[in-house]
Amino acid sequence: MGNCFGAKIKAESPSHSAFTSGTNSKYGSKNGNGLSSSSSRVSAASVPPTPRTQGEILQSSNVCSFTFHELRTATRNFRPDSVLGEGGFGSVFKGWIEEHTFVPAKPGTGMVIAVKKLNQESYQGHREWLAEVNYLGQLSHPNLVKLIGYCLEDEQRLLVYEFMPRGSLENHLFRRGSYFQPLSWNLRMKVALGAAKGLAFLHSDKAKVIYRDFKTSNVLLDSSYNAKLSDFGLAKDGPTGDKSHVSTRVMGTYGYAAPEYLATGHLTTKSDVYSFGVVLVEMLSGRRALDKNRPSGQHCLVEWARPYLTHKRKIFRILDTRLGTQYSISGAQKAASLALQCLSMEARYRPTMNQVVSVLEQLQDFKDASTGPVPSPAAKKTDRSLDSSSRRSRGRSLEEAASVNGKVAYPRPTASPLYG
Ligand SMILES: Nc1ncnc2c1ncn2[C@@H]1O[C@H](COP(=O)(O)OP(=O)(O)OP(=O)(O)O)[C@@H](O)[C@H]1O
Ligand SMILES: [Mg+2]
Repeated sequence: MGNCFGAKIKAESPSHSAFTSGTNSKYGSKNGNGLSSSSSRVSAASVPPTPRTQGEILQSSNVCSFTFHELRTATRNFRPDSVLGEGGFGSVFKGWIEEHTFVPAKPGTGMVIAVKKLNQESYQGHREWLAEVNYLGQLSHPNLVKLIGYCLEDEQRLLVYEFMPRGSLENHLFRRGSYFQPLSWNLRMKVALGAAKGLAFLHSDKAKVIYRDFKTSNVLLDSSYNAKLSDFGLAKDGPTGDKSHVSTRVMGTYGYAAPEYLATGHLTTKSDVYSFGVVLVEMLSGRRALDKNRPSGQHCLVEWARPYLTHKRKIFRILDTRLGTQYSISGAQKAASLALQCLSMEARYRPTMNQVVSVLEQLQDFKDASTGPVPSPAAKKTDRSLDSSSRRSRGRSLEEAASVNGKVAYPRPTASPLYG
């Protein structure tokens, strides 16, 4: 078996002093744009006084080191039919290992794992790979995906995660087909709460991390729809001392990044809160943050939805029609108002993730259902009549056409440098 530095995955929060940033202070793009020459945009605030070396990160992480041969065996030679998904850095494969020894196991036995194999040509991918080991190798929380191990061999870079049987929130919201039934209102609220708890933990004094890439494809779901955050390749240590922000090259995914971060590169926990607001609107509306297939004026979800979110009676026009009558008026209004607060143009008016968690806790399991029935489908139809063109367009969009050989065929957002 591979070399395990810790006994399996130890539940351990990082000691912040031993958990410095800088391993990921400069990211290149997954699209091969390369490292920016604009390193001047990376201020001293993001460069730690004592950056940890790769060796230090790998040695201090509580995860196993696998050989390439072990992971090739565990995934049956990276069989194409075991691809769980593809991202900007490479493909994710399903595999099996023995529960206690972690040696490759026969398919269907032992423990299921998800193996992310980075495209070899991506030098930039190494930095994100290392950042993932740095953060997930030390942080442990029920709403963060568990990193079981990694492989670093010649040019090969792989990551081994716990398998999340229900895949990503992105698939559940936007992929059509018999396997992906629309998520119910209650499940959407459950997933929102789980993801919010994950972010709240990252922002807490224990972890002090800014996630920077919150989006639906990075929220993974276990068999009971518990949400776990994955992909810490863009994560950054939060500001230290009396600093209010860290300065970074602007990275992330279009449609999710906070306006002040895009404008200045100043990153705070409130940038994550904004991205959470975008995802909440995606969950409420069933629409993607950015979708060029929609009519002009509707490409950017937040711009389109904002006027509706501000009016308690108009929010029904943006709610996902597939939700039918599953929500109460007051529940929908509370969720919309929460999203609107998260999307405040001024960061200081956004709630903290702890505050978001408390509001979402009140929205679990229809606790508020007594406050009013859902408008009848007929009433909602009238409400949404203005929007019929967009619904027609959604019917035609690539989202619907999605599945080709089990692969997602719609345009997908992916993380990259947003400017520069
Ligand atoms: N631990 C896991 N268990 C099950 N499925 C997973 C797991 N990790 C990833 N996946 C699937 O693989 C897909 C690709 O993941 P990956 O993190 O490489 O890219 P992404 O998040 O979709 O996009 P990006 O590269 O922009 O972050 C995910 O969307 C998800 O469907
Ligand atoms: Mg991801």
